Amino acid sequence: MTESSSQRYQFFDQHPEITNFRADIVQGLSAAEPYISPKYFYDETGSRLFEEICNCEEYYPTRTEVSIIRHNIDDIVKILGQDCLLIEPGSGDSYKVRLLLDALRPIAYLPIDISKRYLQGEAQKLAAEFTWLNVHAICADFTGKLELPYHVESTNKVAFFPGSTIGNFAPEQAVGVLEEIKMMVGEDGGLLIGVDLQKESGILNAAYNDKEGYTAQFNKNLLARINRELGADFNLDQFDHYAFYNEDEYRIEMHLESKKDQQVVIDGQALQFKNEQSILTEYSHKYSIESFQKLARQAGFKSIKTWVDKDGLFSVHYLEVVVAEAL
Ligand code: AVJ
Repeated sequence: MTESSSQRYQFFDQHPEITNFRADIVQGLSAAEPYISPKYFYDETGSRLFEEICNCEEYYPTRTEVSIIRHNIDDIVKILGQDCLLIEPGSGDSYKVRLLLDALRPIAYLPIDISKRYLQGEAQKLAAEFTWLNVHAICADFTGKLELPYHVESTNKVAFFPGSTIGNFAPEQAVGVLEEIKMMVGEDGGLLIGVDLQKESGILNAAYNDKEGYTAQFNKNLLARINRELGADFNLDQFDHYAFYNEDEYRIEMHLESKKDQQVVIDGQALQFKNEQSILTEYSHKYSIESFQKLARQAGFKSIKTWVDKDGLFSVHYLEVVVAEAL
């Protein structure tokens, strides 16, 4: 790291509670309707497979969101205003924020991620790449209570939450996540968020069942990871990737379906799976512009502007915190 980037780079460790993978998995898999949390997809193999998914012909969300941001960058910058404090909960590799930085010129970029080493690496890379940018990385769990390490009262704070990650949460939970973000940005704060849209089920089913089979591998990697890290004995060939659009609930559901009656041993504990019994691994909720704006209002945000691609596949919203009226 050069001296100038080390001055612009700061790291704040809020020591997030590392969840107990073993206990979580055993609890989820012993439930009457077995499940595994989608946050466990992203080990090294899973993150690599997710990148492959994003490059699949059928998986439109990533490239569509990127093109919406590219095409509307001037408008986005005008509405967000320069000199904001740009906060990204769950920043990962900070790939999409690179589309904004040169035009937006924020006073500082605050990536928040639970994975300390990954966050440090990616944030330092970014500080070296954008030679004018202040990067204040925060190691924390953004789904829990989160205090920014300092308070810049006079600055408008904007959160960036791309990728339709909000879709992983059931609508009631999603309101809670948006409320957390609202606390983070405070009064006068804003939120730029990417949200996947409801559409013809054929397009959705194809996006989660790509022909190359990357999504199936991504899904099954959960079982491989449990084998690797917990010494379990899942036979990956005895489970099917099963993903479909549930039109009543407006969500993609991903499951791993047992192909026969079988027993799996995890941590000395035997678990039974019946033929055709499924393990729920992910929901990916889809919204209309109106249904998402309604959800945002429930969390205390008002819609300022929405950008959509020409085919109406994906949406990017700019929301502002509604100032509570005096009672
Ligand atoms: C990262 C949660 C937005 O729901 O489309 C992709 C994850 N799962 N293919 C999504 C995912 C299967 C993705 N999100």
